[in-house]
Amino acid sequence: MDDIVHGAGREILADPSSPRDPEVMPIRKIGVIGAGQMGSGIAHVVALSGYDVVMNDLDKERVEAALAAINNNMTRQVASGKISEEDRQKALARISVTDTFAGFADADLVIEAATEEETVKRKIFVALCPFLKPDAIVATNTSSISITRLAASTDRPERFIGLHFMNPAPVMELVEMIRGIATEDVTFGRARDFIESLGKTTAVSEDFPAFMVNRILLPMINEAVYTLYEGVGSVDAIDTAMRLGAHHPMGPLQLADFIGLDTCLSIMQVLYEGLADSKYRPCPLLVKYVEAGWLGRKTKRGFYDYRGEKPMPTR
Ligand SMILES: NC(=O)c1ccc[n+]([C@@H]2O[C@H](COP(=O)([O-])OP(=O)(O)OC[C@H]3O[C@@H](n4cnc5c(N)ncnc54)[C@H](O)[C@@H]3O)[C@@H](O)[C@H]2O)c1
Repeated sequence: MDDIVHGAGREILADPSSPRDPEVMPIRKIGVIGAGQMGSGIAHVVALSGYDVVMNDLDKERVEAALAAINNNMTRQVASGKISEEDRQKALARISVTDTFAGFADADLVIEAATEEETVKRKIFVALCPFLKPDAIVATNTSSISITRLAASTDRPERFIGLHFMNPAPVMELVEMIRGIATEDVTFGRARDFIESLGKTTAVSEDFPAFMVNRILLPMINEAVYTLYEGVGSVDAIDTAMRLGAHHPMGPLQLADFIGLDTCLSIMQVLYEGLADSKYRPCPLLVKYVEAGWLGRKTKRGFYDYRGEKPMPTR
């Protein structure tokens, strides 16, 4: 492996009870499960920081699409002078693919970034753990699901942690870190060092539904969908209002399409069920879009239709 490039990571909420243990093995090889928007972005940033990466997805086409997207995005970074051509080539050479979890046998850290469904994630952990080194850390990129509950489906709750990268992972500065009830201090310290080595800033959240960023962001998006559902404004009016009136870089419906409407709905369901408060009930219109398979950018239709030259509102 080439040099790990240490970035300018900074911790917002330092946790004094998380010592760095020099005795533990360094993290060098990273497994990524799920090669969707997040898995590909995480593989991108991790490979550029000098780590070896091995990726897996149920769907081979997703892996191929992810490798192509990583290549395209790195080519764009070269064109804008953010990285050199040599960086791009070295990073791409560090990424490999595995069809089975046996390919994670030498990974020091495996980051699960599969579909936001608890049953999917639990099955992955049950199948994955027997192949891992005893001291390997397992992390989940879940946006909302309980870390303690997911950890319980592994053989290593003490070496399990939530590492919530933001979308797009190569660009966004923050990674939320969430301990489960059993997460050991050494695991937390190793994970924090790893995130900081990517040049990211960490913010530590307690293990409550949707953590911090999505606890705040998703009810706003859901409210924007209610605003549309109740006919208060059109897609265009709502997004324009929030872009120009609240200085948000993206309108809430545009952002929902970017996140994925299935992911938005899953997060709202976790908030609704986990906090048992009707203020989190998912908007029926969001449910309808998901049932239609209109999941946003990734399926080329959501609150906007992306099949033409320019996104067109669908309502
Ligand atoms: N989209 C966002 O903005 C965002 C941001 C932060 C975190 N997340 C979280 O990241 C995770 C992935 O989200 P995404 O947006 O990349 O979704 P996505 O739909 O783009 O990708 C999910 C991928 O997981 C794969 N998958 C499903 N089951 C699998 C299995 N058993 N084994 C291997 N691969 C499997 C799917 O084939 C798909 O390629 C979710 O937990 C989500 O909540 C999403």
